[in-house]
Formats: sequence, structure tokens, C-alpha cells
Amino acid sequence: MRPKRLYGVGELGPSDLRSGRVEPHYEKVLVRLLSAHAMAEKLTALGYQRALGTVADPSLHPVIKKNFAEERRHARLVYRALEEIGVSESAADRAMVRLLKSPSFEAPRYFAERAEGETDLLMASLALDATGLLMIGINYKESSYAPHARAAEIILEEEAEHDEFATELLGRAVESLGRDKVAEALRQWLPRAVNFFGPPGTGFTYDCLRYGLKSRDNQELAELFLTMLERRAGQLGVELPALTSGYPHAAA
Ligand SMILES: [Fe+2]
Ligand SMILES: [Fe+2]
Repeated sequence: MRPKRLYGVGELGPSDLRSGRVEPHYEKVLVRLLSAHAMAEKLTALGYQRALGTVADPSLHPVIKKNFAEERRHARLVYRALEEIGVSESAADRAMVRLLKSPSFEAPRYFAERAEGETDLLMASLALDATGLLMIGINYKESSYAPHARAAEIILEEEAEHDEFATELLGRAVESLGRDKVAEALRQWLPRAVNFFGPPGTGFTYDCLRYGLKSRDNQELAELFLTMLERRAGQLGVELPALTSGYPHAAA
């Protein structure tokens, strides 16, 4: 059940936290959410940086460079919102150590640490940019915390272009590699992409919904993503692999 939302879009800012207008738990939940968002942007930036060394086709490099610079800027924007409330980048990252090992961070970590070549670039772009577009466009743009809502607005414009890039790469991949190879890559990447939304129905998300820091549960967004991707892949004659139903999802 969705809890009643306590605060409207952009209703709160740093001064409301300082003045004690909101309960202290709000700040805790906010810091955790912003830290996870900042880390996801940072790892995505590292992934694009890595891709410059592993993607052979030079015609892709200008867009990879552009996305790298933009992802770095997105990370900066979110870290800045954290700094404004006294949380340094290193403190935020330290608090993320356990979450980083969870299935929800496998996609950005794989992109930053192990991805190789054009197919991984395409899959990572689908798994991070197409998913990020939903998380940011639906959840964070309507955040009750004004600095996060504002950052989301800026990020969103650039993410829409990253998402277009992913769609373009998907078409290219089907042409050059064939449907079977693309379906095989999707079997590896789709579980990671869906798990990136995080587990369904957690206490943390409940608090985020109540505080107006998110508007939808992780599972609702994951389903939206799957529906969208299914349509896009279907237009290219590619069927999405089946997934196991529980979180973390795996190829069925
Ligand atoms: Fe981003
Ligand atoms: Fe992106």
C-alpha cells in the first residue's frame, strides 16, 4: 500500500532541515537516497570513461566522451546537494560500501569495472541510462527536497539524449551482430538492469514515499522499464529473455 505523502514537490530545502521543521529521520533517508544516486552517476561516468579504452569504433568516441562529461556533472550536482547538508563525497561513498555489493549495483559496477567493447556499452546504456531516465523523471523530479528536484530537472534533459543513444546502438547491434547475439547479451544484462531499480516494497522505499522523496515503488518502475524495452526490442524483432519473478531477478 502506498503511504500518504507528507510533503509536496520541492517543498523543503536545507534550511528546513536545519530549523528542525522536519523530523530528523527525513534527513537520514534523504542522505541515503542522495548517496545512492550520486554513486550511480559516478559509476556510470567511470563506465563511459572505461569505454573510451575498450570500444574500438572511433565514430562512437565523441558521444562516449560527451556522456562521460555529462555523467560526471550529474554526480557533481548530487554530491553538491549532499555537501550543502554537511555530507562530504567521501563520507557519502563510505556509507555505500555494503549497498555497492548488492544486486542493485551490479549494473553500474560492471560497467565501471568490467565492461568490454561495443555490446557491453550498448547494454550498459540500456541498463543505466534508460533506467535512470525513469528513476529521475518519475521519482526524483518530483522530490519534496527542492535541491534534488532541481538537479533531476537538469540531469533529465541529458539523460533523454543518452537514452536515444542507447536506442540507436540497439538498432546498430541488431544489424551488425544479428538478433541471436543481441538476445544473448540481453540474457546477461537484463537481470542487472531490472535489479538496478532495487528490491520491491522495502521499509526504505516506504519512508521515501511517505516523505515525498520518491513517487513510485521500485517494482512499478521496473515494470515500466520492461514494458518500454519490450516494445523497443520488439520493433527490431528481438524478444526479451524471461526473468525469474523474485528480486534479485535472474534469467529464467
Ligand atoms: Fe546520469
Ligand atoms: Fe546517462
